[in-house]
Amino acid sequence: MLVSEKEIAARVAELGRTIARDYASADLVLVGVLQGAIPFVADLMRAVALDLTIDFLRTSSYGSGTTSSGAVQLVTDLSIDIADRHVLIVDDIVDTGHTLAALIHTLEARGPRSVRTCVLLDKTGRRETLITVDYVGFTIPNVFVVGYGLDYDGLYRNLPYVATLDGI
Ligand code: IMP
Ligand code: MG
Repeated sequence: MLVSEKEIAARVAELGRTIARDYASADLVLVGVLQGAIPFVADLMRAVALDLTIDFLRTSSYGSGTTSSGAVQLVTDLSIDIADRHVLIVDDIVDTGHTLAALIHTLEARGPRSVRTCVLLDKTGRRETLITVDYVGFTIPNVFVVGYGLDYDGLYRNLPYVATLDGI
């Protein structure tokens, strides 16, 4: 196990307080990246004591392997208009950064007031893009992890903690 259920809960509560303070009285949209961000968005949204909206999108992902292709496609789009609103993209993990870089680029073209990013996990050592991640739960080493939304070949998303694949 790399990050326990208790550690996740404590950190999510902290992030929620920080986000609530930063976005006080702003029109905030949390944009979850399916499917990995599901548990994180569900917990985070309840930790942010503000009126907010949530929506989801889906990108093409790793498929069944453990390495990134670098080509990111929007497979399922948002169902709401983000023009003039503050967007916070929420994802499970930032690895190479290609996914978040592509999403920031795509969403910024729609005229939002701001686009920021929030991830539970950050593998800083693997970055291949110059993106700023605004809110990070935990920085982790370059190991493949599963649980709390993160999968290997579609499995282990429902684990309540984050573990290395070898440790499963
Ligand atoms: P990036 O585009 O390389 O930053 O990768 C982002 C996406 O890759 C995440 O949203 C995850 O879906 C997936 N990913 C990256 N690292 C891991 C991992 O260790 N376990 C499971 N999925 C991962
Ligand atoms: Mg993902």
